[in-house]
Amino acid sequence: MEFNIKSGSPEKQRVACVMVGVYESRKLTFAADLLDRISNGFISDVIRHGDMEGKLGSTLVLHSVPHTLCDRVMLVGLGKEREFRAKEYREAVRASVKALTQTSASEAVSYLSELTVKKHDVEWMIEQATVVTLDALYRFDRFKSKQDESAREPRKLTLAVPRRSDLADGEKGLQRGLAIGNGMKLAKDLGNLPGNVCTPSYLADEGRKVADAFGGEAEILGPKEIAELGMHSFLSVAKGSSEEARLIVLKHQGAKDKSDKPIVLVGKGITFDSGGISLKPGEGMDEMKYDMCGAATVLGAFRAAVEMNLPLNIVAIVPTCENMPAGNAVKPGDIVTSMSGQTIEVLNTDAEGRLILCDALTYAERFNPATVVDVATLTGACVIALGHIATGLYSNQDSLARELLAAGEEVADRAWHMPLWDEYQEQLKSPFADMANIGGRPGGSITAACFLSRFAKAYDWAHLDIAGTAWKGGKEKGATARPVPLLVQFLQDRADIALGNVVRRGRPRREAPEVADDEQD
Ligand code: BES
Ligand code: MN
Ligand code: ZN
Repeated sequence: MEFNIKSGSPEKQRVACVMVGVYESRKLTFAADLLDRISNGFISDVIRHGDMEGKLGSTLVLHSVPHTLCDRVMLVGLGKEREFRAKEYREAVRASVKALTQTSASEAVSYLSELTVKKHDVEWMIEQATVVTLDALYRFDRFKSKQDESAREPRKLTLAVPRRSDLADGEKGLQRGLAIGNGMKLAKDLGNLPGNVCTPSYLADEGRKVADAFGGEAEILGPKEIAELGMHSFLSVAKGSSEEARLIVLKHQGAKDKSDKPIVLVGKGITFDSGGISLKPGEGMDEMKYDMCGAATVLGAFRAAVEMNLPLNIVAIVPTCENMPAGNAVKPGDIVTSMSGQTIEVLNTDAEGRLILCDALTYAERFNPATVVDVATLTGACVIALGHIATGLYSNQDSLARELLAAGEEVADRAWHMPLWDEYQEQLKSPFADMANIGGRPGGSITAACFLSRFAKAYDWAHLDIAGTAWKGGKEKGATARPVPLLVQFLQDRADIALGNVVRRGRPRREAPEVADDEQD
């Protein structure tokens, strides 16, 4: 779909659909009020009849509104004006886009983007409208022989900004929104692809494509090179599969100073997790194709960052393989030596994510990183702890944890800070090796993070357990692309710091005064 930025009056739009907001208790937004006046109260009449009460997320499509040039006017409920914040704005945009796909309108102009959300500027309004629209329109129908007819994708969406002088900021917001949206689409596509298509080598090819498209560097290592590095923990997981393991390394040299310490993102890339010899129960096992969502979101965030050409040095590291049972598969009780030299007793072959990540974390040391963030669908226990709402966040540096929490908060992709206390490390004791790969049922997400922390001592490190947030089950089954928005915001904040800018938390409007009526054109 094509996006556009425009300033101009709603009654003058010669288009299939104009979308305007309506608050609860019959309060019209500026654009809705303009349409109401030109149509001699047509809109307020409809509202008085009770068909549109302004409830957040409700929509009503009107045809032939007098004295307008558009075919339809869509009223979009915004909820109570006093409570209209970022979250409500996103919800209203989402509802308007969903409703638009239920009409046959192929072009629309949305006036929701010219509303005011406290502490946010025009650039942010447009960026978020773009991201939410792309997210709402996403479909994965590559394997359907017939396209789903129940919803159509509009051809063109124009987002309104309050005044002509806002067009440049709007354009910037649009470019940022498109980059984030493209990164999220990549993450969702990779996540949703079945395991027989999205294999480790497929993932490596996709990684290389991202680097090639935006002038980044890609290095792909195969089993031989991985063995030469001494990554025997990683390779122990890959052993039982006929698919070869890959280590994907992508680099973006965006900083002015090429020798600036990079931010390293590490993603768990298990393209299918059967559990291995510690086989998982059959029910719902198909969902373990999503066990590479850490990798997918790292590639998605990397793609967004390079498309925006953020002035940072960024490295993405993705260890990827399948976890399968076989005659030559790793067995419970086996002891493996990690790249760090630490030995691991594999008590459960289903705790494989940490076995591939620990070697990737050791590998990260060679980049002399400013910060390392790993992303993994690591534990079922994290789903029990935080459900599908918050990503589990662990860090060996509280200030880094605070940065990530704030970034997630900013873009509605929230994480929750979990403890990484020494007392939990006890649970990983092994009588035969330096550590066991599981710590028992209590605090399962925490002991998994504790395991990783033993390989991340050389730098500031954070771990995001996305087992509950990376994909949705049920009716709307599919990858969510979380935490791409959080990661991109985190990187953007780091770029702002590098440029000496104040971090635009809540990004306030530059001009303080509200939009005056006569400034509309
Ligand atoms: N990929 C799974 C974690 C997972 C489970 C993610 C369910 C999303 C939904 C991971 O490899 C795993 O199997 N973890 C085990 C660890 C256990 C054996 C200590 C788990 O969570 O059960
Ligand atoms: Mn597993
Ligand atoms: Zn797994």
